[in-house]
Amino acid sequence: MSGHASAENIGHGSPGHAPAPSTHEQPSSFTFDAQSEAEIGRILAKYPEGRQASGVMPLLYLVQDQMRRQTGSAWIPRVAMDAVARRLTMPPIRVYEVATFYLMFNIRPVGRYHLQICTTTPCWLRGSDEVVAACKAVAGVSKFEEMSPDGMFTLTEVECLGACVNAPMMQVNDDYYEDLDGDSTRRLLEALKRGETPPRGPQIDRYNSAPVGGRTTLLGEVGERSADGQPDRHPDTV
Ligand code: FES
Repeated sequence: MSGHASAENIGHGSPGHAPAPSTHEQPSSFTFDAQSEAEIGRILAKYPEGRQASGVMPLLYLVQDQMRRQTGSAWIPRVAMDAVARRLTMPPIRVYEVATFYLMFNIRPVGRYHLQICTTTPCWLRGSDEVVAACKAVAGVSKFEEMSPDGMFTLTEVECLGACVNAPMMQVNDDYYEDLDGDSTRRLLEALKRGETPPRGPQIDRYNSAPVGGRTTLLGEVGERSADGQPDRHPDTV
């Protein structure tokens, strides 16, 4: 947890007797804070009596969010997995299984900004190598899974995040930044370092996943025909 402030709901000390899912320092205790408690009530109300174990994934995500609020690092210590197990009346091992299976759950500390960079084929063909190189240079790390010395960034290589049309892209905490290149990636990370939150989404002249520079089809009125003779319907007039 070096580089992050401690919090009153999270105790620190030597790991307990149960097997830990990773080898770094684990806090000795975890307590849901008032914000999490309110959210837990809302989540568990969705499930019928006796089926509360179905809330394991939302509760683990809640832990990660609370850790981000309290320590600046969005991760799930083992004691927090135990707290989830107690709250859902399920064996801890079943919570460990879920937390260690899904990539969106961090079971070791990450930087204040978790950079999940897609390097799957469409992003790779569109220049994800440049994005990776820029992230490493600005963060001052040499490889994936490494946290920057100032605790600001952790780089993770991920598979397709479903935004291929705006490749290359990366996820920064909960937000997508798309249509990146080396320069825009460097600008993004420098802004994050300054405490700014640049607008998420495409980093070029594009609205969501519409064509670059604006719409090129569906420009006429209902009943008009486009150049290829097909009916052309303007979405605003349909
Ligand atoms: S390949 Fe990168 S988002 Fe799909």
